[in-house]
Amino acid sequence: KILILDFGSQVAQLIARRVREAHVYCELHPFDMSLADIKAFNPSGIILSGGPNSVYESDYQADTGLLELGVPVLGICYGMQWMAHVMGGEVTPGNQREFGYAEVAIEPNRLTDGLSDDSHMLEVWMSHGDKVAKLPQGFDVVGHTPSCPIAIMQNPTKNFYGVQFHPEVTHTIKGRELLNRFVLDICAVKPSWTMPNYIDEAIAKIREQVGTDDVILGLSGGVDSSVAAALIHRAIGDQLTCVFVDHGLLRLNEGKMVMDMFARNLGVKVIHVDASVDFMGKLAGETDPEKKRKIIGAEFVEVFQRESGKLTNAKWLAQGTIYPDVIESAGGKKNKAHAIKSHHNVGGLPEDMHLQLLEPLRDLFKDEVRELGVALGLPREMVYRHPFPGPGLGVRILGEVKAEYADLLRRADDIFIQELRNFKDEQGVSWYDKTSQAFAVFLPVKSVGVMGDGRTYDYVVALRAVITNDFMTAHWAHLPYDLLGTVSNRIINEVRGINRVVYDVSGKPPATIEWE
Ligand code: XMP
Repeated sequence: KILILDFGSQVAQLIARRVREAHVYCELHPFDMSLADIKAFNPSGIILSGGPNSVYESDYQADTGLLELGVPVLGICYGMQWMAHVMGGEVTPGNQREFGYAEVAIEPNRLTDGLSDDSHMLEVWMSHGDKVAKLPQGFDVVGHTPSCPIAIMQNPTKNFYGVQFHPEVTHTIKGRELLNRFVLDICAVKPSWTMPNYIDEAIAKIREQVGTDDVILGLSGGVDSSVAAALIHRAIGDQLTCVFVDHGLLRLNEGKMVMDMFARNLGVKVIHVDASVDFMGKLAGETDPEKKRKIIGAEFVEVFQRESGKLTNAKWLAQGTIYPDVIESAGGKKNKAHAIKSHHNVGGLPEDMHLQLLEPLRDLFKDEVRELGVALGLPREMVYRHPFPGPGLGVRILGEVKAEYADLLRRADDIFIQELRNFKDEQGVSWYDKTSQAFAVFLPVKSVGVMGDGRTYDYVVALRAVITNDFMTAHWAHLPYDLLGTVSNRIINEVRGINRVVYDVSGKPPATIEWE
């Protein structure tokens, strides 16, 4: 396994993703991880990330003992500069900031051999101010650009490498191959980290952790809680009870889908709580988006507590926490590991229940959670679903929430999702898979229409479809007109009560993805 030390890079998680994609297990830790912890981790190789600081700032130093462990080290950007600095080289502030595309001329070396064509050039992404000006002893230069004379350095005896560019970003064309070369060849780690392999290990760990105790899990129908449920059930069977709270603001047939998949197909014990009347009652008359969110969140906690409180033998609360929720980043330390996700569907439980947290997905990235779900036999359509917010349709019905509105919206939304799955691009990829999130929004305004010989005066539905990597920024999806036309026709014809469909062409920012 590989250890990645994070010096505060924006893209340190990407390094971990690339290493995992090479089927090698790795963990990302803050740069100041103690030498004892590093030794206990027992890495086969160490990668030092980039970072925004200068190596002359005493705050951003790793333990130099990591260079004495006899394992290969790859320094990226700041990581390279740090290595050069502590080994007796020199780092200077670059008088020219290099940012963006660059071509590195390479000479033969173990890290990049075979990655370039006859031009001996690598197309890379640079982003740095400081740079290594003088090599430490034992190193030589094997890559340079016009403005960065030491772009790749190596010490083949110690197996230390440094690159001034960022191999983890996709703009570095052969970046993935370079990282593979380091991990698989130089560190000689076997690529055995795959989800089917991981299942046995994960099951053994869950059994060891919970022993004969009972476990409660709040099942939402989302990817993370579903995969966690399937995994834990595989490990401990009937010791797991899932609580599925239907707040009346779920997608069409969601309750049936969850019960079919988990209770009927997998034989998981699921308590299905239909609390829609309670939720609608609490929401009546409220139009303020933030207050609506709070009401739904609080009611959720209450219902979940009431139901799970009945399971008196339970000692554990299982959650679908995943690795990005757990990672302590060097830039602003956060350890959310033991805080229950605040926005999550499952709220806190009373202290006096003394439940311990079971989080079997906390080592996995989202892609890996999906792979694991497929390996556990969950249907691909469920595992590759778009995200769905905890407050559900409550934030997609503008203003006051009413059961009648939720029913109309659910049906319109379902038609939209069906057609996104039906329509494919030239490569045969469905528009559902091409978009990151798509849904319908209910607008409680009426407009005039004509149907047959009659005049209608009905509600409006807006369609929203976005493409994004991180949900922090997003583009509206350029859906084909045919698709939009089909969806509009079907909604207006099939959902009596809606006579107009519009498409949202706002990016984020300035608009958010959800309408509330
Ligand atoms: P916005 O609307 O802020 O949404 O651009 C970004 C992403 O977050 C989801 N979202 C939520 N998820 N509880 C959730 O679990 C919430 O209250 C909530 N609000 C927004 C949204 O669906 C999108 O994926």
